[in-house]
Amino acid sequence: MYRNLPAWLYNAVFYEIYPQSFKDSNADGIGDFNGIIEKLDYIKDLGCTAIWLNPCFESPFRDAGYDVSDYYKTAPRYGTNEELKLLFDEVHKRDMHILLDLVPGHTSVDHEWFRQSMKSERNEFSDRYIWTDNIWEEPTGCASIRGISDRDGSCGVNFFSHQPALNYGYYKPDPQKKWQQSVDDDGPQETIKAVKDIMRFWLTMGCDGFRVDMAGSLVKCDEDGKGTIKVWQNIRAFLDAEFPDAVMISEWGEPDKSLQGGFHMDFLLHFGPSHYNDLFRCEAPFFSGNGDVSEFVKKYKESCEKSERKGLICIPSGNHDMDRLSHSIHGDKLKIAFAFLMTMPGVPFIYYGDEIGMRYVEGLTSVEGGYGRTGSRSPMQWDDSLNAGFSNAPKESLYIPQDNAADRPTVKEQLTDSDSLLCEVKRLIAIRQAHTALQSNGEIEFVYAEKDKYPLAYTRTNDTERLLVILNPSDTETMIPFSHALQEKVYEFGDAIREINGKLAAAPCSASIYRF
Ligand code: GLC
Ligand code: CA
Repeated sequence: MYRNLPAWLYNAVFYEIYPQSFKDSNADGIGDFNGIIEKLDYIKDLGCTAIWLNPCFESPFRDAGYDVSDYYKTAPRYGTNEELKLLFDEVHKRDMHILLDLVPGHTSVDHEWFRQSMKSERNEFSDRYIWTDNIWEEPTGCASIRGISDRDGSCGVNFFSHQPALNYGYYKPDPQKKWQQSVDDDGPQETIKAVKDIMRFWLTMGCDGFRVDMAGSLVKCDEDGKGTIKVWQNIRAFLDAEFPDAVMISEWGEPDKSLQGGFHMDFLLHFGPSHYNDLFRCEAPFFSGNGDVSEFVKKYKESCEKSERKGLICIPSGNHDMDRLSHSIHGDKLKIAFAFLMTMPGVPFIYYGDEIGMRYVEGLTSVEGGYGRTGSRSPMQWDDSLNAGFSNAPKESLYIPQDNAADRPTVKEQLTDSDSLLCEVKRLIAIRQAHTALQSNGEIEFVYAEKDKYPLAYTRTNDTERLLVILNPSDTETMIPFSHALQEKVYEFGDAIREINGKLAAAPCSASIYRF
């Protein structure tokens, strides 16, 4: 059995909203909370039950808001704290849930904590970040910011060089380096308290939990993640005491570690050991019809075993850091990719726009620290009106330019075409919602996942039903052995499965689900 999860996770399907780019309600060229509220019915109608909202807090936006300068205040461009609360309420009214994005590993250099921390006289924030005790020495295990403080020291950074690393200490502090603190020292313990305060603030206001940014990066020189796991266990204990229903998902990519830390779910990512890229984003991705799924499956099975059902492994369609799904998977193959996403265990995550096959916009200048990621962050395409219905601002003032192609996909057009990707995704979510064996904690067993071969086949089962999923994104008919008789069809895209001499033949570019 899986560990007890909040009940709503069993059949959850998430939708990731990048607030800048979803819907602009006041014609300033950038998305906002009221715009999201306007589109909640769309998300609900798609069949999604929950939202992950990218960071929406005060920030100089040198990393799209992952450089927080005030954790307690929403960025004015999105709206006020009250409007965010209204968004929570509107989400809950529709029986949905919403997670905020928590960035515990670093702040912006503009955060007041960092300003105080840079002062030469000791104060409450001197140990909030990782500082060496002289400017000529750099911190171990991370890059550093140097030469901008009165304080004589270098400060560790976590990601870009304007994102100083909050201090959770070193796993095994080096006694020669007096400035290295241990997780149990006062500085790191105060950091943990500060993070709990932030979580308490937003949970009290009504969010349902957090997606946690770079969750595995907190404690430094922590090769096996043991120190960071301990920090998260401490935070989970606080949640269990004060907000037992709060849901946590990590950007970690190593479920055998993150789930030990008390996270309910962990993402597979485009970095890390998961082979997630083999599916959708490499030179020859499996779902393009000419790739290999076997390494992914091998690693997936290993992760399931190692994570001992402490929580869920979640496979996203993409996110704001990756190339768009449609960059290397095209046409009907996108439908097969979604058939996979909607029939795997764990909770599926759909990155806004992936459900209509929004394209990666080539050739954009970096916006807000996006660099190559900018093309995956372009504003949502709703309809055929000005700016595809994203905003009433003049086209030039959209904060990221849109896909200018005449045939750019839109929600409106796809809703009226039953062959569209959007309609297929809706059907697939509905099938998942109607069959508990397909949901988060149904069992999975791989039937066929051979090196360089097609199709991919697996069973999803629980006490109530046994389903066989066969996905063939290749351009040829492929055969697999299967020893049970198939019963009725639950879902089919493309031509039907044929039973030939005890084998099953899957048509080119097809996806099927059968009871057996
Ligand atoms: C995570 C975010 C990414 C951000 C980085 C630094 O990977 O998803 O967008 O730039 O962390 O916070
Ligand atoms: Ca706006």
